[in-house]
Amino acid sequence: MGGLSWRIAEEADIAAITALQLRAIEELQKPFLTPAQIESSKKTMGLDTQLISDRTYFMIIADGAPANTFAGCGGWGRRATLFGGSHSAGRSDAFLDPKTAPARIRAMYTSPDFTRRGVGKLLLALGEFAASEEGFSKMTLGSTLAGAPLYEAAGFRATSRDEDPAGDGMNVPVITMEKPIDRAGAAAVIAAATGEVNAETVKRLAVARAT
Ligand SMILES: CC(C)(COP(=O)(O)OP(=O)(O)OC[C@H]1O[C@@H](n2cnc3c(N)ncnc32)[C@H](O)[C@@H]1OP(=O)(O)O)[C@@H](O)C(=O)NCCC(=O)NCCS
Repeated sequence: MGGLSWRIAEEADIAAITALQLRAIEELQKPFLTPAQIESSKKTMGLDTQLISDRTYFMIIADGAPANTFAGCGGWGRRATLFGGSHSAGRSDAFLDPKTAPARIRAMYTSPDFTRRGVGKLLLALGEFAASEEGFSKMTLGSTLAGAPLYEAAGFRATSRDEDPAGDGMNVPVITMEKPIDRAGAAAVIAAATGEVNAETVKRLAVARAT
C-alpha cells in the first residue's frame, strides 16, 4: 500500500463525487448484478449531502494524480440513516448515542481506475478512526453485493439481509453488517496507506469537527 492521501470533502466536491459514484455504481457492480438491477440500485445508492455538511465524508487522492481527480470517496455517519443518497427513502437525521448505537459506514466508492489498491480499506479505516474519536465502539453498514468482499476482509460480519430495499421488485440485496471498532487497527491502516502519523490524523479530524 502507500501512495494515498485524504481530506475532508467539501460542497465544491459534489460534482466530482457524483461522477465518481456513478461510474463505480455502473462499472464495479457488473460482476454482481444485471443491468436492470444496477439501474434499480441507483435508488438506494449515491451521495447523502448531509455527510458533507457533517464533515464526515472523505476524499482519497492518489500521489501524482491530476487536480480534481479522486481515487475514491466515502465516509461515516453519526446519524441514524444506514445507507442511501439524499434522494433515497427512509432517511433519518436523528443523532446516534455513541454509548449504545453503532456508527454508520456510508457511501463508499472507489474510482474504477483505482480498484484493489487499498482505497476502500483506507476509507473504512478513516471512518472507523473518526467514529472512535467521537466515542463509538461499534460500526454498522448496509452493503451492496460489490461491497461485501471489502467489508468481510476488514472483519465485518453479516447480521441480516434485505432482498428488495428499493421496493421495486428488482431484488437488489442490501446486507447489514457489523464490526467492533478497532482504533489501533484503523490507525495502522491509515499510517500504512498515507504515511500520516496518528497524532496528525487526530488533529485533522478535530479541525473538521470544529468547522
Ligand atoms: C466496494 C469498493 C469500494 C471496494 O473498493 P477497493 O478500493 O477496490 O477495495 P480495496 O482495494 O481497499 O480492497 C481491500 C480488500 O477488500 C477485498 N476486496 C475488495 N474488492 C474486492 C472484490 N471485487 N473481490 C474480492 N475481494 C475484494 C480484498 O480482500 C481486498 O484486498 P486485496 O486487494 O489485497 O485482495 C468498490 O468495489 C466500489 O466502489 N464498488 C461499487 C460501489 C459499491 O458497491 N460500494 C459499496 C457500497 S456499500
